[in-house]
Order: sequence, then structure tokens, then C-alpha cells
Amino acid sequence: MDRYIGVFDSGLGGLTNVKELHRLLPGENIVYFGDTGRVPYGSRSNDTIIKYTFQDIRFLKSFPLKAIIIACGTVSSIALDVVRKTEPDLPIIGVVEPSVKKAISLTKNGKIGVIGTEGTIRSGAYGDMVLKEAGNYRVFEKSCPLFVPLVENGYIESEATRIIVRDYLTPLKTSGIDTLILGCTHYPLLTDVIREVMGDEVSLISPGVETAAWAKSYLEEEGLLNTSGKVGETEYYVSDGADKFARLAENFLGSPIYEDVKKIDIESW
Ligand code: DGL
Repeated sequence: MDRYIGVFDSGLGGLTNVKELHRLLPGENIVYFGDTGRVPYGSRSNDTIIKYTFQDIRFLKSFPLKAIIIACGTVSSIALDVVRKTEPDLPIIGVVEPSVKKAISLTKNGKIGVIGTEGTIRSGAYGDMVLKEAGNYRVFEKSCPLFVPLVENGYIESEATRIIVRDYLTPLKTSGIDTLILGCTHYPLLTDVIREVMGDEVSLISPGVETAAWAKSYLEEEGLLNTSGKVGETEYYVSDGADKFARLAENFLGSPIYEDVKKIDIESW
């Protein structure tokens, strides 16, 4: 069997990435880990996020891997550089660079907005990368801590969601951005409401979509694509609530999960 692409997230949200991988790379075997027992990561300290990230990667490494995709915006922002240093032989792809490169290619006025969890915005990772790539551009960042619980509880298009989205995003709208990075796994599910607030003229960037496309190019360039011609298999693991994960997965994946979702003890890794 061809090696796996390992994908992980703090919970369900990284399935938006898997959805795109299934579309772009149907031949690849994927192992997904969602840390549902310890979600959310976004409000935790850097030390805790880094500790969790190492455990998540140690678990994924129990499978033969060709690459890891960090689907989580918070982990990609805070822990990517640290884990890359300790895993020099394993390609590790985060969501920040693909999203930033896309934003830079789309913006016309050089004003880019970034929204994410508290950890992501505190890290400044998106803003730093925009400025590294395009020093004359301006970045406007805003943490939106209520978006994840809204999505997790199915408040996708409710009036409460509209009020909160408007409250968080009005300052970004006022700043005149023409491109907005939805820098968290869950935020693309709020695309319709975010678009209502930001208007059609603002480009919305979904990290899951950009990162899957990035991974495809990378694997192609490195000659790592599965050439067996067979449809790949996907395995799902979580740290708690396997039934709930299987039930809610369709919201993120766009189709139900037919495979067994297995629970593991992530603290033991
Ligand atoms: N997966 C996280 C992210 O993309 C959101 C949920 C959490 O806070 O753990 O930042």
C-alpha cells in the first residue's frame, strides 16, 4: 500500500482540507486525526499547543507517511517552525503560506485582512508572512473567538451569527481590505454570512482549499503521488466522541463518513 498523507486538526474542522484532498487527489491514502478530546486549541497557550502538536505528529507517524498537512490554523501559526526543525525528513505543510500566497495574488489594493483564533492572531504568523512576501502591503488582523463555537453548534446562518459576524468584521470592512483570509478551519462554513457583511467585492480565501492545492503541487513536483490508479483509503481517528465526530463530519466533508472512526488515547503519545 502506498504511504499516507497524514492530516490533523484540533477537531472536525480539518475535514474541510480532507474534502479538498479527496477531490484533487482521489488516489491518495489519508490518515486523519482530530483531537476532539482537547479542542479548542485556539484559546490555549503556545506551550500547550506545541505539546499537543508533537503528540498529534507522533501518533500520525505510527503510519507510513509521505507528508503531513497541518489543517489547523492555530497549529500552523504557532508550532509549524518548531516541528519542522525536529522532523527534517518529513515534509510538513501548514495552511499559512498557501493562504498568504493566494491572498497576495488576488489583492489589487494591497490591503489584506486575516481572521483567526486568538492564538493565530497573537502569533502574527499570517501578517508576518504577508509582509515578508510583499513588504508594501498592509495587513489588518482580527481574532473571532466566537466563530468556532457557533459553527460547532450548528449556528451557521442564524440571526445571532449575523450579529456576531457583523460586530467582528465591521472594522475590517471599514479598513478597506479587498481580500480576507479565513484563517481558521471553521470559518469557511460561515462564508455566506461573512460575504453578506464584507460584500461581493472582497475575495475570501479558504485555507483548506489553498493548502490541498499546494499539497498536490508539492507531491507532483517531488514525484510522490500514488500512481497505482486505485481510489485511496481514508482512516479517521479522534481522541474522544467518535460517534459525534462521525455524525457531524458531513458538515465539513460534504459527504458522510462510511468508515469506522476510531478513538485513541492521544495523551499516551
Ligand atoms: N482548528 C482551529 C484552527 O483552525 C480552530 C478550532 C480550535 O480552536 O481548536 O485554528
